[in-house]
Amino acid sequence: MSEPHTPMTLPRLAEMKLNAEPIVMVTAYDFPSAEIAEAAGVDMVLVGDTAAMTVLGHSSTTPVSMDEMLVLAKAVRRGLKTPLLIGDLPFGSYELSNEQAVETALRYVKEAGCDVVKLERGGASVERARAIVRAGIPVIGHVGLTPQTATALGGFKAQGKTADQAVKIAEEALALQAAGCFMIVFEAVPAELSEVLVPQLSVPVIGIGAGAATDGQVLVWHDLLGIYGGHTPKFVKPYAELRTEMLRAVGEYASEVREREALRQFPALRRQSCGQAFQPLALGFAAHEQ
Ligand code: KIV
Repeated sequence: MSEPHTPMTLPRLAEMKLNAEPIVMVTAYDFPSAEIAEAAGVDMVLVGDTAAMTVLGHSSTTPVSMDEMLVLAKAVRRGLKTPLLIGDLPFGSYELSNEQAVETALRYVKEAGCDVVKLERGGASVERARAIVRAGIPVIGHVGLTPQTATALGGFKAQGKTADQAVKIAEEALALQAAGCFMIVFEAVPAELSEVLVPQLSVPVIGIGAGAATDGQVLVWHDLLGIYGGHTPKFVKPYAELRTEMLRAVGEYASEVREREALRQFPALRRQSCGQAFQPLALGFAAHEQ
């Protein structure tokens, strides 16, 4: 956990890599989750386009729009003071041109108060990253399994298992770093590949399913807490089973209402919570009940 109430900065993240201090990143998509991330002392919060699946119920990350992402990012911003807030550029919001990429990144900063943005892939994304950095907005790259282009990669599969794939990931990561990215996410790549590549990169590498050699880890909020009911990747370690607990609580409430247990308590609650203005009404109820 970093020093309490000290806002995270880019120099501090670079220092953490040098000092081999692990960097903690989680995703969040709403105000209460952001407040919990803040209180738990995480270093960075990503408003990830995984929201398309975990929050909006789509079967992939591609349908979520920038307008939808902004609603979520603004809510997260209201719950955070200390961690660095990352806006994830959704599919279709940065591919067309450098101008489109800069415009989208600026919206995250100006409308939602994000500190930095993240984009996926190498190739044309390297130029997009360079343009956004030139516009004054720090950028995080993302290589390996890039869910926005999972179809082109042959599905939601681990990457970097063949020599060709490993070379491609290395080239992309180095190109993103050269373009000015201050951090790179490695998703679903063999631990051995991270062991070779991480020391060759001067910027911190955050892993998700990329072994223990990375400079930090990121987990999707709903996977970390065991809330998501859809497919969860093998590499995810849940730290709670909140879906089961939520189901139990809502089920218990539904049963109580149906058994009229909760309804029987309503008169007592009504008298306790009546304010001054409603006292005559409450007395009226009392007289009626006698
Ligand atoms: O959108 C997201 O949540 C991500 C993480 C999985 C890194 O990109």
